Amino acid sequence: MLQAAIIGGTGYTGVELIRLLSSHPKVTIKWLTSRTEAGKPVASIFPSLRGISDLTYSDLGEGTLEALTSCDVVFFATPHGVAMQQAEALVAAGVKVIDLAADFRLQSLQSFEQWYKHKHACPELLKQAVYGLPEISREAIKTAKVIGNPGCYPTTAILGLKPIIEAQNDKGEAVIEPRIIIDAKSGVSGAGRQAKLNLNYAETTDNFNAYGVTGHRHLPEIEQGVHELLQSKYTHNIRFVPHLVPMIRGMFTTIHLSLTDAGCDLDLQQIYEQAYQNEKFIDILPAGEFPDTRSVRASNRLRIAVHQDNDTKSATILVVQDNLVKGAAGQAVQCMNVMFGFDESLGLNHVPVVP
Ligand SMILES: NC(=O)c1ccc[n+]([C@@H]2O[C@H](COP(=O)([O-])OP(=O)(O)OC[C@H]3O[C@@H](n4cnc5c(N)ncnc54)[C@H](OP(=O)(O)O)[C@@H]3O)[C@@H](O)[C@H]2O)c1
Repeated sequence: MLQAAIIGGTGYTGVELIRLLSSHPKVTIKWLTSRTEAGKPVASIFPSLRGISDLTYSDLGEGTLEALTSCDVVFFATPHGVAMQQAEALVAAGVKVIDLAADFRLQSLQSFEQWYKHKHACPELLKQAVYGLPEISREAIKTAKVIGNPGCYPTTAILGLKPIIEAQNDKGEAVIEPRIIIDAKSGVSGAGRQAKLNLNYAETTDNFNAYGVTGHRHLPEIEQGVHELLQSKYTHNIRFVPHLVPMIRGMFTTIHLSLTDAGCDLDLQQIYEQAYQNEKFIDILPAGEFPDTRSVRASNRLRIAVHQDNDTKSATILVVQDNLVKGAAGQAVQCMNVMFGFDESLGLNHVPVVP
């Protein structure tokens, strides 16, 4: 059995990792950390785990490194700036690191320091880190020592754009106009479990607001995904506007594209179906259908609908996922499966919860 540690086991992505790994046949959670709940059984904080996990939270303190180096893999479900403090020593000890925060997502050091206002603690390791989107970087993930697990919004945006960007590369002429508009909505759990005034029940319920309009930290990650990961031959001006919607889990991303004449010649439905025909976690809906967030809730699935309108020379790509699963913990487990040579869907076969 693989020995795993979860740093940050009291947060929403941390508890989601516990839920997923509890049904994983090849992984045992050896350490589960919390600074605030150390010594308490996990089930006393999350009654959903009574009878499922008998783990107790630990604050590893000075013994952190020694404890973690006894594991095969360490998940950091913490704010940015935490994983980078431990990663170098863990990698040197042969431990694989999967960071759910942003320390290893942006390949450009300058971009990381500009957007996160944080000096990177291990720039050399950053160069070796792999962006953990298996549908794009599966081969690199197999041998990766450090994974920068993608942000939730970028997962929907990059996977939603992949087929059309690749079609553009293949065709050798622009099939979309250079402006991409990404209009995205997240459930409140996307902001984590910490108490914050703007996340109070009375503030978020029966309410709907935009934020980060002039620059959200996920924008450079989406740009990196389009320009570097997908090796786009064209330069795109990307507008990204996130919103908070009054639901607990779920993310709905609408991507607006203008088609060129060459783009109108394409059958986008067929292109998307072909692009993802072998991807277990990506579902292209039949033409004309609309996805909803409930259809993916608590599962690692991402559903996409493609609406092409040649009269207005436009394409609208609708993408849904559960921000805590395919947008975070599920994707991290998927990466772990790839890294250790397991079937990619081990521990990830949950059916979405409806209603
Ligand atoms: N929520 C999402 O949908 C989502 C999606 C994708 C990515 N992410 C990213 O995943 C990470 C975790 O998100 P989350 O929503 O789970 O956050 P969260 O609910 O706020 O939980 C954060 C966890 O980190 C621990 N922690 C905080 N500061 C720490 C430190 N300095 N050292 C060690 N542990 C520390 C906290 O535990 P104690 O205070 O008890 O120690 C807590 O368990 C974030 O970087 C977030 O951006 C989140």
